[in-house]
Amino acid sequence: MKGNDVPADEPGDLAAAYQALPYDDLTYPATHPARLHSLATLHALTPPEPQRARILELGCGPGGNPLALAAQLPDAEVVGVDLAAEPLQAAIASRHALGLRNLHLEARDLRTLPASWGSFDVIICHGVYSWVPPEVRPAILDTIAARLTPDGVAYLSYNAYPGWHARGLLRDVLRRQVPPGPPRLRTAAARQVLAALAARADVGELSAWLTAELSLLETLSDSYLYFEHLAEHNQPFYVTEVADAAAARGLTVFADADPTTELTDPSDAAERDALVQVHGPGTGEVARLAGHARATGAPPPARPAWRSAVEALDLLTFRSFARSLLCHAAAAPQPRDAQRLAGARVRTDLRVEEEPDTASAPLVLTGADERQLVLRDPDLRALLGAIARSGPVGCPVDQLPVSERAGVGGGQAVVQRNAQLLDLFSRGQIQVSWWQAPIAAAVGERPLAFALARRQAASNAPTVTTLLHERCGVDTLDRFLLDAHHQPT
Ligand SMILES: C[S@@+](CC[C@H](N)C(=O)[O-])C[C@H]1O[C@@H](n2cnc3c(N)ncnc32)[C@H](O)[C@@H]1O
Repeated sequence: MKGNDVPADEPGDLAAAYQALPYDDLTYPATHPARLHSLATLHALTPPEPQRARILELGCGPGGNPLALAAQLPDAEVVGVDLAAEPLQAAIASRHALGLRNLHLEARDLRTLPASWGSFDVIICHGVYSWVPPEVRPAILDTIAARLTPDGVAYLSYNAYPGWHARGLLRDVLRRQVPPGPPRLRTAAARQVLAALAARADVGELSAWLTAELSLLETLSDSYLYFEHLAEHNQPFYVTEVADAAAARGLTVFADADPTTELTDPSDAAERDALVQVHGPGTGEVARLAGHARATGAPPPARPAWRSAVEALDLLTFRSFARSLLCHAAAAPQPRDAQRLAGARVRTDLRVEEEPDTASAPLVLTGADERQLVLRDPDLRALLGAIARSGPVGCPVDQLPVSERAGVGGGQAVVQRNAQLLDLFSRGQIQVSWWQAPIAAAVGERPLAFALARRQAASNAPTVTTLLHERCGVDTLDRFLLDAHHQPT
């Protein structure tokens, strides 16, 4: 037993644990170099084009993420490394089957990258920083500082405080109650503890939170449960701590890859009111500083105020996960600016299911989760309606309608439209990209699906990867249609 009576990990090293209980083989849309390129461009950086980028993924697990990136970006060069050799084998087989010469996957400790690999325009490190022994963490940041090209963008995700102070309650209980042993046995024992807790979760002050957390864990895989709540290493951080560690290496955290987790508008009444309740009057200034910090990643001169503002906001939004985007401080990121949207394309997952009867009737948009958005404002209706009608291909910002309201003319109307687009982006309603995925606007006579998706469908995977780097559930009919044997040659 270790200190605090917490059972020690099973014998064997970290790689053995990932071999015994392979991590879920997923793709992560937020890591896509085109998304990182968009955010960097909005922050006034000049990132290399994603389609020709050199991309490195550290701790890529079973390799599904770099595999899909190499298949989507044939002119890019993708390298993925992970300590555990066995889980990488399926992705290496897919690499050969799909003839992906632009992909290199290697079982290797991220601390020993050969000098000959050179530098990279994009470095992705998803789900690793919190989950490695303490001595590996500085090496991750050192590698980013040493290997990122001057205009490159790095993505670093980790479990975050203050939200993980709550999640850690369950981890603590599980690590105390589940005896040492092989990962699969410990996970099975943990499931029993969780089931016993769920049966009594309706009592006590934490019942609402606990019930939701236990229901969520029921839907998540055994490998997630093990590496999140049982394995020895899972160290959350405040975003400000990671920003400090990055700054010590000449790096700057300039944004979060999920724009909806950031303060979108420091003058937003609801957010400001919430802050005032926590910090008292005078918080308007704190909110303004937080807005600056979030928008630039660079602490303004009044550093203590910046720190407290970011941490207060992360408390109010109960942040438990962060996807920090880093660049070299010398690249000098600026606040996000709507006018940089010129030349970009936008798309949305929202659909127009039924056109309104009259031009002034509300427009109803339906989301992927079947939630409906009813738009009454004429400008928003015209803008978001046009984007929704353009489907997954999206449309150029410069072709979108501007306000026809009296008094808003010419250049001012464009400024106003772009500000509205940036707001929609910050609320997660639209995606912005300077890269166009090679997808067709209409189904042709002899459609050919993405080769990786066909291979996944043929191997009975429950989901397949799309050209937009998302996972999509497939049923028997989908499989039949996707199966390479039914495609014209
Ligand atoms: C929680 S998993 C995440 C895997 C993958 N990135 C994902 O999010 O699906 C952490 C991964 O980091 C890898 N890892 C841990 N220490 C490492 C090291 N020193 N060098 C390379 N990979 C390492 C593990 O083998 C494991 O696959």
